[in-house]
Amino acid sequence: MVKIAPSLLSADFSRLAEEVRRVEEAGADLLHMDVMDGRFVPNITFGPLVLEALKAHTRLEMDVHLMIVEPERYLADFRQAGAATLTVHAEACAHLHRVVHQIKELGARAGVALNPHTPLDVLDYVLGDLDQVLIMSVNPGFGGQRFIPAAVEKIRALRNRAAEAGLRLDIEVDGGINPETAPLVTKAGANLLVAGSAVFGQRDVAEAMAALRRAAANA
Ligand code: DX5
Ligand code: ZN
Repeated sequence: MVKIAPSLLSADFSRLAEEVRRVEEAGADLLHMDVMDGRFVPNITFGPLVLEALKAHTRLEMDVHLMIVEPERYLADFRQAGAATLTVHAEACAHLHRVVHQIKELGARAGVALNPHTPLDVLDYVLGDLDQVLIMSVNPGFGGQRFIPAAVEKIRALRNRAAEAGLRLDIEVDGGINPETAPLVTKAGANLLVAGSAVFGQRDVAEAMAALRRAAANA
């Protein structure tokens, strides 16, 4: 079954707790949180303090997407603040294997994200250790960008690899997901859909998520 993870990046930052409640009540499966440091990506968002503050306001699992350099320095803080899943970028980790195992030792689900240009091969020797892989379908840093179609083939290839290896891997896709692109990625094998503007940007978030689910089901 496909899960919908609204991305907080497109929420109204002046009233985050209400925004989280709004998508939770409307049936979100996870809460996707984009952490940006102004170094790995050209934008800055929030850190563990914001997770900590929101923890009391939601029962949704926090799916934390770390777009930061040297993520190993902050994993424990984000875990402590309530992250259920910690996803690091392969491009930001010189020692990806070590970082993945650090995440697991903290008791969190471990994810690795790949930028649009990064080949799947970087996952060859860690795939079996991962709970999820995040395929970026835009260049990270901003919400509301246009979907990059090459992501579809990458998702398909990854789903095949995981199936061949007998792995139950979550494949998450992030960037430009809307009712037009959702069926393309779910048909290719993605089962976690991140959506920022297609959810928070809409007046009726319940209907926005329902539209994504319907589109995904028609894949
Ligand atoms: C982009 C972030 C995304 C972003 C997606 O760097 O990782 O999670 O919020 O926004 P949309 O769904 O608007 O493309
Ligand atoms: Zn994200």
